[in-house]
Amino acid sequence: MTAMSGAGKSFAAPRGTYDLLPPESRRWQAKVRLAMDTFALAGYDPIETPAFEQTEVFERGVGAGSEVVTKQMYTFQDRSGRSLTLRPEGTAPVVRAVIEHFMARGALSGAVPLKLAYASAMFRQERPQKGRYRQFFQVGIEALGSDSPLVDAEVIEIGFRYIRSAGVEPRLSLNSIGHNDSACRGGYVEVLSDFLRGRVDELAPEDRERVSTNPLRTFDSKEAQTVAVMADAPVISDYLCEECKQHFSNVQMLLKNLDVPFDLEPRLVRGLDYYTRTTFEYVAANLGSQNAVGGGGRYDGLAEALGGPSLPGMGFALGIDRILLAAEDRASERGGVDVYFVALGDEAASVALRLATQLRADGVGADLDFTGKQMKGQMKDAARSGAKWAAIIGSEELAAGEITLKELATEKQERVAFRDLIRTVRS
Ligand code: HAM
Repeated sequence: MTAMSGAGKSFAAPRGTYDLLPPESRRWQAKVRLAMDTFALAGYDPIETPAFEQTEVFERGVGAGSEVVTKQMYTFQDRSGRSLTLRPEGTAPVVRAVIEHFMARGALSGAVPLKLAYASAMFRQERPQKGRYRQFFQVGIEALGSDSPLVDAEVIEIGFRYIRSAGVEPRLSLNSIGHNDSACRGGYVEVLSDFLRGRVDELAPEDRERVSTNPLRTFDSKEAQTVAVMADAPVISDYLCEECKQHFSNVQMLLKNLDVPFDLEPRLVRGLDYYTRTTFEYVAANLGSQNAVGGGGRYDGLAEALGGPSLPGMGFALGIDRILLAAEDRASERGGVDVYFVALGDEAASVALRLATQLRADGVGADLDFTGKQMKGQMKDAARSGAKWAAIIGSEELAAGEITLKELATEKQERVAFRDLIRTVRS
């Protein structure tokens, strides 16, 4: 056997992942672009952090007791023995970067909130199903340095408007989970724990442990038995402190003012431990069980949990995979080619390559045949390319220094001199 003994074996993408291929990849790219453009219009600047972080960033940021950290992280030791984790979410890494680079100085002085946006792959080892993958793609924004309800409303509206413009009609669920103090969420968690201890035998067996480890998480259960018990559970809204109550009522007023419709959902707790006060989710009606196309909330204690200053934060992340599944725009995005050259013979092909290059340099998409096909085959390729025009160069055109430019949708055609091609397709 040679070193190539594996030859002949074929491979598939790892379980829970998928390849994004044309033409679907065009739709994907258009949605991501639209998101980053939408965020930029509100002053959110792009940030990129590494695909992996020290494991502790997520243990301390997302919470050592959260499902994401205990069950779903891709954690590995590198060759130097460091524990690293592929990011399961983007908020803790962004806050880590902000602290590391002292980016929050302006925000700390109260001058401006620091506004950041990202579009990145995330990794969670969940059980794969439609809309749930092990590598998925999120777009998100984070606003740091202000605890004003104006920021909550701005962030929620931006996500809502983007999802709509991406072709999905979202429902917005809204809640406040207060802050971590015995006069607020702390007191509530005790009341909830008492309630759960009293009914622990009625919970689904797999949820019983949560009663002592993380009682709030019991609301996340999808088990019918547990859901039935939780319908009787006390809800956080009855236990918020005055300040959190006021904050939440301001957020609601501002959202009404922005014409963003929402449903109050007192059982919405979300799966990550850093949340304080406002939490929300955007849900798509047509997605089945994995129907959350995005979610977010405030995380006023996260920066401190990561060893930084006190720095309130608010943001969301949207699942692009799910938005693509839910969006009504099934028609595929057009590709980048505007003009497809149909050239007959070697000399015509070399002219076509030169003209295509000139068009590209001028920002007009162009492609051509490389295989010397017959006219009919090249015309088929032109149609398949999604181009608006076929630019035909036969021997007659070649002799005259001209092109027959055919608009593919209307079949209208005209003769155009080589040098007038750019002007003609531009007009
Ligand atoms: P999250 O709710 O864990 O929040 O994820 C946000 C969105 O990412 C979900 O609503 C869903 O659309 C998508 N998503 C999550 N897991 C998967 C998966 N396995 N497959 C496909 N899509 C998935 C966060 O990640 C927070 N960092 C959001 C945030 C930002 N909070 C404050 N700022």
